[in-house]
Order: sequence, then C-alpha cells, then structure tokens
Amino acid sequence: MDKPRILILGATGQLGHELQRSFAGAGEQIACGRDTVDLANTRQIQEVVRKAAPDVILNAAAYTAVDRAESEPELAAAINAVAPGVLAAEAQRAGALLVHYSTDYVFDGSKTTPWSETDTTHPLNIYGQTKLAGEQAIQQVGGKFLIFRTSWVYGPHGRNFLLTMLRLGRERKQIKVVDDQYGAPTSSMELADATRSVVGQILAGRFESTSQWAGLYHMTCSGSTSWCGFAREIFLQAGQMLEGHTPEVLPISSAEFPTPARRPAHSVLSGEKLMSTFGVRLAGWQAALRQVVTQLSA
Ligand SMILES: NC(=O)c1ccc[n+]([C@@H]2O[C@H](COP(=O)([O-])OP(=O)(O)OC[C@H]3O[C@@H](n4cnc5c(N)ncnc54)[C@H](OP(=O)(O)O)[C@@H]3O)[C@@H](O)[C@H]2O)c1
Repeated sequence: MDKPRILILGATGQLGHELQRSFAGAGEQIACGRDTVDLANTRQIQEVVRKAAPDVILNAAAYTAVDRAESEPELAAAINAVAPGVLAAEAQRAGALLVHYSTDYVFDGSKTTPWSETDTTHPLNIYGQTKLAGEQAIQQVGGKFLIFRTSWVYGPHGRNFLLTMLRLGRERKQIKVVDDQYGAPTSSMELADATRSVVGQILAGRFESTSQWAGLYHMTCSGSTSWCGFAREIFLQAGQMLEGHTPEVLPISSAEFPTPARRPAHSVLSGEKLMSTFGVRLAGWQAALRQVVTQLSA
C-alpha cells in the first residue's frame, strides 16, 4: 500500500505517543485524543472512524487505572470491553486493519513458566476482566485484526512506574517495592516499533491470506523481573539523573502493600508466536530501559 491512512486512538497516552513517532513516514496519520473521540461513546467512535476512512486503526486508548476500575466497572467496561467491538465492526466496514492492545492481567498468575496465547485466561481484577471481554468482542467480529497482549508498560511520556520511581528517588531515602509479582517491563518505544514492524509486513503484502496472520499475540520485552528488581535496575541505570539522591530499595510482599485490585504473581508472556509468525522479538527489558533512560537524559 502506497500511503495508508493511519488512525491512532489514545494519541495522548504513553503508547499512543510512541506510535505517532514510530509510524511517522509510514502513511498519513490521523491522531485522536479523548477530546476528539470518547471511547465510551459508540456513536462518536463510528463517526470518527467513518470520517477518517482509515486503512489502519491503532487503538492505544484504554481505561488503564487498574485499581480505580474496581470502583468504576461500568466505565472500564464501556472503554475496554464494548469500544473494541465497535472498533472491530467499523474496521471491517472500512476494510481496515485493527490493531488493539490487551494485558498480561487476563491471567491469574498461577503458572511460573511464560504464558502462551492458548493458555486459559482467568483475570483477578475488573481491569483484566474488561480487557479480556474486549479481546473477545474483536475476535467475534473477526477479519483483519491484531491483538497484542503486553505488560508493565513504561516510557519517556505519561504516567508509569519508571517516572514514579525517578520522582520518589529524588524525594526519599528508602522506597519499599513489591517483590513477589513477576512480569516483563515493556517500553512503549519497543512496543510501538514492534507494532510498526508487524503492520509493515502486512501492508507490504508478505502474507497470502488474512488467516496466516490475524489473531492474538503476546508482545512484551524479553526476560522478566519483579517490581523490586525493576526499581533496582532503574536506579542502577538512571542514578546519574538523581544528583546523588539514589534511594535504597526495600523488597516487600504484596500482602504488605494492599491494593483495591488483586494482581497476578507471575504474568510473564511467551513471545514465541510473535517470533514464529513475524520474526519479531522485542529487546530484553534492561536494554529497553537503557534506551528510555538515554532519551530522558538527553
Ligand atoms: N500501562 C500498562 O502497564 C499496560 C500493561 C498492559 C497492557 N496495557 C495496554 O496497553 C495499551 C496502552 O496503554 P498505555 O500504558 O499507553 O495507557 P495510558 O498511557 O494510560 O493511555 C491511555 C490512553 O487512553 C485514553 N483514554 C482513556 N479513556 C478514554 C476514553 N474514554 N476515550 C478516549 N480515550 C481514552 C487516555 O486519554 P487521556 O490522556 O485523556 O486520559 C490515554 O490517551 C492499553 O490497551 C493498555 O490496556 C498497558
């Protein structure tokens, strides 16, 4: 395709920001924030997609406040469960490719080896339940779609664990961080670049039929750690940004840090399907962190 029209939803979020960078030059971008399209409003979604007449829809918008979702289940469901189905129907109507993102929190964390796409889902919280329902709504419509389940997303922009740690690191001598939840920190930059690579292959006509590529994939940085391990690596790599205020990181258990939403103990995802279908593997989480820290330090 010569100059595809690329509609990016959730453009102000951490992934949306990086998708705009990564897809620059890949086609004609139409980037929308919540002010242009409210995903809780079906009519607005339909109007915006029909007006944009896209070839590709990148949906980086979501209700991502995991703890708040426990007290706002209807709003979380409207954005995470209903809207993806509406987008899928609109994508089909337009003949567009829909790219959507889901979460490691569709799993309950009971397995200590990496989860594959065929493993049984069992979300422990409302956020995970609504994201799973969103996956199912898209799959029900079918057609040209990609769902990328990712995890522990952070990057140079937006609200995330890295930026919170850097702020706390300047303010405190000690920081207590949960050490019994394991996952793969994934940079928004890696996630966007991997998406660009996959979408590029599809638009270039690498596959003979949709059934060869459409579906659900795990897309995270390689390797794994705990939140505590992630925090320690942040201070190791970004210490120079804190003007000598590097704090001590103290491991605590989830029980010592109660939150409204339960989280899985082990939600590392296997990237084998992404690798075997598209030949795409994201960087190791420490290398990806280095890239983000370098950008923040520049
Ligand atoms: N963050 C993580 O750790 C994580 C982990 C696993 C999966 N994911 C998934 O990865 C994707 C990207 O996440 P992210 O970290 O980039 O999220 P994010 O930084 O929280 O950004 C979410 C975006 O969605 C927008 N949004 C929220 N409610 C909306 C509504 N009603 N209508 C339109 N837009 C709305 C936000 O707009 P405002 O800026 O106006 O609020 C923001 O632009 C999501 O599908 C998320 O579920 C994230």
